[in-house]
Amino acid sequence: MSLEKTPAETCVLVTGGAGFIGSHTVVELLEGGYQVVIVDDLSNASEKVLGRIAQIVGAEAAERLSFIRADVADRDALETVFETFAIDRVIHFAGFKAVGESVSKPIEYYSNNLGNTLVLVDVMRAYGCKDIVFSSSATVYGDPDALPLTELSPKKMATNPYGWTKWMIEQILSDLVVADPAWNVVLLRYFNPIGAHGSGLIGEDPKGIPNNLLPYVAQVAVGKRDCVHVFGNDYDTPDGTGVRDYIHVVDLAAGHVAALAWMNGRTGCEIFNLGTGTGTSVLEIVKAFSAACGRELPYVIEARRPGDVTANWADCTKAHELMGWTAKRGIAEMCRDSWNWQSHNPDGYED
Ligand code: WQD
Repeated sequence: MSLEKTPAETCVLVTGGAGFIGSHTVVELLEGGYQVVIVDDLSNASEKVLGRIAQIVGAEAAERLSFIRADVADRDALETVFETFAIDRVIHFAGFKAVGESVSKPIEYYSNNLGNTLVLVDVMRAYGCKDIVFSSSATVYGDPDALPLTELSPKKMATNPYGWTKWMIEQILSDLVVADPAWNVVLLRYFNPIGAHGSGLIGEDPKGIPNNLLPYVAQVAVGKRDCVHVFGNDYDTPDGTGVRDYIHVVDLAAGHVAALAWMNGRTGCEIFNLGTGTGTSVLEIVKAFSAACGRELPYVIEARRPGDVTANWADCTKAHELMGWTAKRGIAEMCRDSWNWQSHNPDGYED
């Protein structure tokens, strides 16, 4: 049983806290009064994020933030973290996340994502810390039979190794609770996180050609790419393009803070969808981003991308009823904040 503590008394280890969702979550945690320790190996993140986080939250709150550069799979390093800090809860973001890359590098994906989770929970157990929030994905629902998706919708076959790692880590963490009811596990299934912090100081910084729609559209808007490639316009949707539940990354980050507060003093395993409950098509995104950046963004229709589902969106009633959380920001704000970040940081965190 985890002890009930106030945020000021609670030290949260955030693995992958320098990444896109991690950095936004760290901001919300610091603003919520928590003590935060980031463990990140910076393999897909920049150290500059730390200065930006401090700029957003201010010097006083930034004093509650520590950063350790380490791979979560490095047991010795992780043990040192638990020796140094009295970690109460863990939010586990660290992992490889490129869907396409996972198909060509399955060993690396299984080894890294499953391996680091197993080391993490083993070290947590050794130090008596059994509270974990896991960064899962709506990808575990596969191709849905019915919409909206609730937490009771069936998990389906994943279509790539990345998706399988999310699927399997959910299983591993729920098995932990069966074996030892003192564990306190929250699985957060994200829909499609986009946008950026309203300050424009932190945002998504993909390496190379972006795989996801929003960073690609943002790079077209800033002139780094010629036009948006729309993958298929013959889906069974109102305009024929794929429909997703896009959620502002700051709302998503707030969902983690809500989860930490909700799990305080509990045990067991609980699953929450984090989305908005609204589906938006690819063409609607192109239009909304065009409005945000003040220019009609060019696009071409291409063939469908293998592995894509037609549509998905969430039913987030459970998160609202149990945790009191609901997404507040709409597509226009997501595109505005994404554009604000991209136009002020055309090369992301690079100089
Ligand atoms: C959205 C829509 C595409 C790019 C993936 C992962 C998921 C999660 C988020 C994160 C689809 C279309 C895309 C482009 C396009 N993981 N599209 N042109 O596939 O819903 O979810 O990212 O780390 O697990 O599967 O997101 O942004 O790639 O695609 O037309 O250049 O945009 O076909 O309909 P997806 P996405």
